[in-house]
Amino acid sequence: MDIEFVAASAAIAPKTALARIVFEGAKLEGAAANAAAASRFTGAKGQTLDILAPAGTDAARLVIVGAGKKDAYDAMGAEHAAASAYAAVKASGLEILRIELPNGGGTNAARAALGVRLASYRFDKYRTKEAAEKKPSIVKTQVATSNVDGSVADFVPLAALADAVSFTRDLVSEPPNVLYPAEFAARVKKLESLGLEVEVLGEAEMMKLGMGSLLGVGQGSVRDSQLAVMKWYGAADKSAQPIAFVGKGVCFDTGGISLKPADGMEDMKWDMGGAGAVAGLMHVLAGRKAKVNAIGILGLVENMPDGNAQRPGDVVTSMSGQTIEIINTDAEGRLVLADAVWYCQDRFKPKFMVDLATLTGAIIIALGNDYAGCYANDDELGANLMDASAKTGEPMWRMPLPAAYDKNIDSMIADMKNTGGRPGGSITAAMFIQRFTNGVPWAHLDIASTAWKKPSTVPTIPEGATGFGVRLLNQMVADKYEG
Ligand code: BES
Ligand code: MN
Ligand code: ZN
Repeated sequence: MDIEFVAASAAIAPKTALARIVFEGAKLEGAAANAAAASRFTGAKGQTLDILAPAGTDAARLVIVGAGKKDAYDAMGAEHAAASAYAAVKASGLEILRIELPNGGGTNAARAALGVRLASYRFDKYRTKEAAEKKPSIVKTQVATSNVDGSVADFVPLAALADAVSFTRDLVSEPPNVLYPAEFAARVKKLESLGLEVEVLGEAEMMKLGMGSLLGVGQGSVRDSQLAVMKWYGAADKSAQPIAFVGKGVCFDTGGISLKPADGMEDMKWDMGGAGAVAGLMHVLAGRKAKVNAIGILGLVENMPDGNAQRPGDVVTSMSGQTIEIINTDAEGRLVLADAVWYCQDRFKPKFMVDLATLTGAIIIALGNDYAGCYANDDELGANLMDASAKTGEPMWRMPLPAAYDKNIDSMIADMKNTGGRPGGSITAAMFIQRFTNGVPWAHLDIASTAWKKPSTVPTIPEGATGFGVRLLNQMVADKYEG
């Protein structure tokens, strides 16, 4: 999608759909007033009213988009209204979308452009036979603004964000025969062109480091496990203590010997959504040259049943030296994170670590499909995450880490076991990871509930891979950890 900022008076090219965003109760004129009188359009959020070949404008089509109540309108409102405008005309056959915001655009123009960038994401590389009339026709969006130069400048970091979210959504959408651990690592390695440094560790190197927990998960797969280490040194002082992010990258989760049922197993291609979000976060930090030192660590494995696969009953030794009794090979994400998190704090001594993982079905039962679970052993970090969540419209709910539940993962024969039973399943999974943080400030985001959406419920997030976490963490870094 091409984005342009134009003056409100700029000429309208042929094949343009004009979207006029209005508040609830706004007085419409001409064709729009007549159309509104013949419909139930009130200007409520997300409503659209389509007028073909309207008189009094050069546009081929006019779409009036509701932005809701004037008092509640803000930059996010502009973003969502612009996304709704795009959805209304994307397959109209027209090629250009011109957006007119309330109040002349100004400071909200760039956010409207972001809304269209996010809403127009599509993963269609494997569709070879799609009918032309079903494909989106809009290729360019022009946002009218009272300050073209200002809007262009405002959009620079937002374009970097949109690029990064698209990168994450692509990774999460890719089928598991294409995106296996080495391929994931190779795609991340290519981000060095943005100025990141990327190291990739293979199984031999992880073996030397003693990562028996992560390696046990991948041992039934013919695909080699990988650990990708992404580094962005953007602070004035390149030796300043970094912040760190760790992602669960299970490229496919069959459950292993504790095999999952067939129904819906294809969803487990997106069990690398945490690693995808961390990769996207590093993409945007580098893309907008964030003034921060940040580390991203991705634990990349495939969990398969096989003659060589890990068994329930096995005991593995993690890099931390702690031993783990495997009760269920389907509780593999925490095993990957155990070594990735330990390695992170051991090597980089970060200010804090945030891990992201599609970790448990239990978080979906607890919170439904709109909220991710947010766990933190540090209230300042937890509050900063919740604050960024509220600002970016990526909802989370703070979850507890009750000391009394910790014994649920004690084992009869090892230092711990990898499942804590069904009650509080997302909590005991978090508490398992906590045992590998070595007291470093840490948060864990269980995004099993939010990494994939079907159907879409927010206009900026199309069906499928959401990219959840990229925007939220980018916001937190920008607000709290740069400078
Ligand atoms: N990847 C799954 C969790 C998941 C479930 C993600 C549904 C997205 C949608 C994870 O590895 C898993 O299998 N967890 C088990 C843990 C259990 C065996 C203790 C679960 O949640 O059932
Ligand atoms: Mn699993
Ligand atoms: Zn999993």
